[in-house]
Amino acid sequence: MPAHTPHAAAPGGAHDRAAAAPDTDTAPGAGTGSALSATGTAPEAVAPAEAVTPLLRGIAVLHRLTDADGGTLSLSALEKSTGLARSTVDRLTSTLARMGYVRLDGRDVTLTPRLMELGNAYLAALRLPALLSARADALADELDESVSLAVGDRDGIRFIHQATRRRAMSLSFRIGDLLPAERTAPGPLFATRWTDADWTHWRERRTADPADRTFPAVPPREHPTPDEDFVHRTERAAADGHALDDQLIEPGLVALSVPVRDPGSGLLACVASVVSHTSRHPAADLRAALLPRLRTAVAAMEDDLRTAPPSHPEPPRAGLATWTGASKQELGREFVESLARGLTVLTAFGAGRSALTLTQVAGATGLARATARRALITLRHAGLVSPAPDGTFTLTPRVLSLGFPPLSRTSLPEIAQPHLNALADRVHESTSLAVLSDSGEEIQYTARASAPRVLSARVTVGTRLPAHATALGRVLLSLPEVRARGYALVDEELEAGLRAIAVPVRDRTGRVVAALNVALHAARRTTGACETEILPELTRTATAIEADLRVAGHFVHVPPT
Ligand code: PHB
Repeated sequence: MPAHTPHAAAPGGAHDRAAAAPDTDTAPGAGTGSALSATGTAPEAVAPAEAVTPLLRGIAVLHRLTDADGGTLSLSALEKSTGLARSTVDRLTSTLARMGYVRLDGRDVTLTPRLMELGNAYLAALRLPALLSARADALADELDESVSLAVGDRDGIRFIHQATRRRAMSLSFRIGDLLPAERTAPGPLFATRWTDADWTHWRERRTADPADRTFPAVPPREHPTPDEDFVHRTERAAADGHALDDQLIEPGLVALSVPVRDPGSGLLACVASVVSHTSRHPAADLRAALLPRLRTAVAAMEDDLRTAPPSHPEPPRAGLATWTGASKQELGREFVESLARGLTVLTAFGAGRSALTLTQVAGATGLARATARRALITLRHAGLVSPAPDGTFTLTPRVLSLGFPPLSRTSLPEIAQPHLNALADRVHESTSLAVLSDSGEEIQYTARASAPRVLSARVTVGTRLPAHATALGRVLLSLPEVRARGYALVDEELEAGLRAIAVPVRDRTGRVVAALNVALHAARRTTGACETEILPELTRTATAIEADLRVAGHFVHVPPT
């Protein structure tokens, strides 16, 4: 197999069939065996005897949250939808909170950007987004249409990159969204490689779920379509080397897809699609107008794959799971160590670590071989890892079903808000996030948390102020003196009695993308006290926001406003 696109040779169908095959007929615990699980997974096979039940339950909780509005559910809604006891839900969510994968707000559980590290591990191991997304973005710019990259995921397709033109007319999909193959343009191209077992699985799924309700990313199917339609589209895709979606998802939405082949094996690595609307291009016209340019771009992508240097195997990681013991000591029953250990196994994979043996997984996580083995058996049963004939394991596209679609749409203000709330609680003062306006002359507030005080600066999200007169603005304008000091303090210049101190927030490349301040009444703290008491808290908060931004921004553009 070529070194550069390790997953390319094995279409999703092949892994996942193996992953779902039950080893034994031992009944699974509650919450793991509902007939149709969330996020479009097929009827679940019975868990093997060695499967780690709390890990399966934790995965089920993450799936429910992924499909929920805003990635949030109440504890009681989780209890209902998983069928688990409340005490179990409490322990699973406490464990996920300890891992930084969810936030607990009273009775609500919300996914956090940190969870994207699991999807990032898959995307980094796959390498295709790193190698191909710049070409996809350039094509979207050239055509002024959306362009996406998708991989096959059993009988569905899953997006690994989206270069989206925001248009009012139609829905746009997110990285990690799963679509039924037969309602897409890439689907027939992947189906050219399906085995008989894949086709059987596909027919069974359509019978069990005729309206596509297990695919929350697409509107329900309104009219049944004969199976033969898709069989014919697949035959044509094999002959033509491209495929069309003529409004199969929703009226108006059309797409044209071309396979991107792995240069080493000649097998399908992913599929590139141009997505448009019938008001701009009816389907037939889409092919005539855009197929040549799509083919040229795909040829360039294949060239990029051919010339990419082999992935540098990063030094073996070690001790990923060593923190779990300490958490267990501290939290006792509220910390489900087997869940934490099992999810940590996913983070052992990454760039240059796409195929790992059991020994390598145990080495990276610090888990005993027997523990790592059971975690891998469980993750395989959940369809998240797949074994190769050479004894290694790889992550499957389904890892993206663990929170990635909703989290991939998180903006910087949304990432920052919980950190601002925590800061305002700690220092009992108001705190704000701001960016520079396009002109560079004003700042614009993008998030805010106020302390319950009578006297606090009267700004709200959206408020604009002259940049040069504010601490936030001075940080964003990067005046040399401010840059050297690392913060700006503005004392009663904007308004008598108002004192503010601000620090920069940087993205993963080191660029300043926002500024964070605490503003207070001058009578409450001296400038000296601002520096000794407030500044360390501001810096700590900026660091926490930056850590989230680093994870969220690995493969996704995070909107600054
Ligand atoms: C998309 O990228 O949004 C897309 C791709 C293929 C389709 C439909 C939508 O068939």
